[in-house]
Amino acid sequence: MGSELIYRGHDEAQPTADVYSPKPPKPWISFSRPIRYILREQRLLFVLLGIAIATVFFTLLPSSSVHRHSRYEPISDNSLSYFPQQTTSAMRYYEPERIAFGSIGKVPLGLKRKGIRVVVTGGAGFVGSHLVDRLLGRGDSVIVVDNFFTGRKENVMHHFNNPRFELIRHDVVEPLLLEVDQIYHLACPASPVHYKHNPIKTIKTNVVGTLNMLGLAKRVGARFLLTSTSEVYGDPLQHPQVETYWGNVNPIGVRSCYDEGKRTAETLAMDYHRGASVEVRIARIFNTYGPRMCIDDGRVVSNFVAQALRKEPLTVYGDGKQTRSFQYVSDLVEGLMRLMEGEHVGPFNLGNPGEFTMLELAQVVQETIDPNAKIEFKQNTPDDPHKRKPDIAKAKELLGWEPKVSLRKGLPLMVSDFQQRIFGDHKEGSTTTEATVSKS
Ligand SMILES: NC(=O)c1ccc[n+]([C@@H]2O[C@H](COP(=O)([O-])OP(=O)(O)OC[C@H]3O[C@@H](n4cnc5c(N)ncnc54)[C@H](O)[C@@H]3O)[C@@H](O)[C@H]2O)c1
Repeated sequence: MGSELIYRGHDEAQPTADVYSPKPPKPWISFSRPIRYILREQRLLFVLLGIAIATVFFTLLPSSSVHRHSRYEPISDNSLSYFPQQTTSAMRYYEPERIAFGSIGKVPLGLKRKGIRVVVTGGAGFVGSHLVDRLLGRGDSVIVVDNFFTGRKENVMHHFNNPRFELIRHDVVEPLLLEVDQIYHLACPASPVHYKHNPIKTIKTNVVGTLNMLGLAKRVGARFLLTSTSEVYGDPLQHPQVETYWGNVNPIGVRSCYDEGKRTAETLAMDYHRGASVEVRIARIFNTYGPRMCIDDGRVVSNFVAQALRKEPLTVYGDGKQTRSFQYVSDLVEGLMRLMEGEHVGPFNLGNPGEFTMLELAQVVQETIDPNAKIEFKQNTPDDPHKRKPDIAKAKELLGWEPKVSLRKGLPLMVSDFQQRIFGDHKEGSTTTEATVSKS
């Protein structure tokens, strides 16, 4: 009996090689003895070490390397590459803002970027080029997107050697992919002569162009600022115009490609804001003047100045009693930047409430340039508004903004630029506004 028992035990302990037998469980791995297992293999030590390393890494990771667009790879050759940039006080100014935008991903340390990247569509134009000067001046990286319909390379040539500046010839009616933080959308002919030249293209620029730029803003999470216009008020029945006024626009007139185009652009901006959570800002710009305006573009200030310099009569349309307000370009640029950096969507009127009739403006031009300049009356153009004056209480209160440069101060700054361009002693890219420079 005893020998039989001994024999069976031996058989179990030495199975033959050709019979499948799962690896016998280690005796110390059992539900009741996990701690003994961890201690014996020294795995607790490794777990603790891993936790410590992870804690140190995430605690010490600098906040500036955390950026909301970092998940986007540079898409095209035209997009801003990760070139080295310098830290300036202006950039530091943006840090809280950038963190407030929300951080979506983390940039590997080697690709750490400072300063913000801004697209200015229409940046080679009159207003756009002054905005670009200010943005570069405070340390941003700027990409100008322009089809040069009314803009000129000369307006931005003085930045060509700046590594933070890029210029892309592109029509905003076509989609564009860029990696940026802010989009100032200015691309659109602004003077009646230009926007009536090809009305279909004008409305396409306003609608399709704005859609494309809003799509880009949505895609990369950029903040988007639309430069709308006081023309959305049409021939206003309310004076001065407050942002809550819905306007009096002829939807089928010769100016509607611009007026209705901008109204639609505002609608699109608000729909992207409400429907797709895009951070939008809307500025309604009133008549603005200054250096780099197109000469002979039909806008009243540039017309009068060019005519007076050439010793031609100043053309006044209608009886000259229609009023406009005139804002110097550096004031507008300041307002646009405050709007972009602020918390409020708008719309905001940005204009100078000082109201002048066309005849009064002609008088100021005579005083500034040529007291003997004659005035010539011509028939008015259709749908020309009779009155235009911004109510800027909202911008004053919420943006802390109001214009500083009076017409009598601003006009001479524009005259010297026009003089240089008309009479040919113009050095390319040399025009800035003294007011702009002194403020930046
Ligand atoms: N200057 C004003 O008094 C005034 C008043 C109200 C609104 N605005 C608005 O401000 C913005 C700038 O006006 P501005 O006075 O500098 O005019 P501008 O004509 O000097 O500049 C417009 C720029 O946009 C570019 N552009 C036009 N169509 C384009 C397209 N499809 N794709 C790419 N670029 C295009 C032009 O080449 C030009 O550089 C415009 O949106 C305008 O409607 C200006």
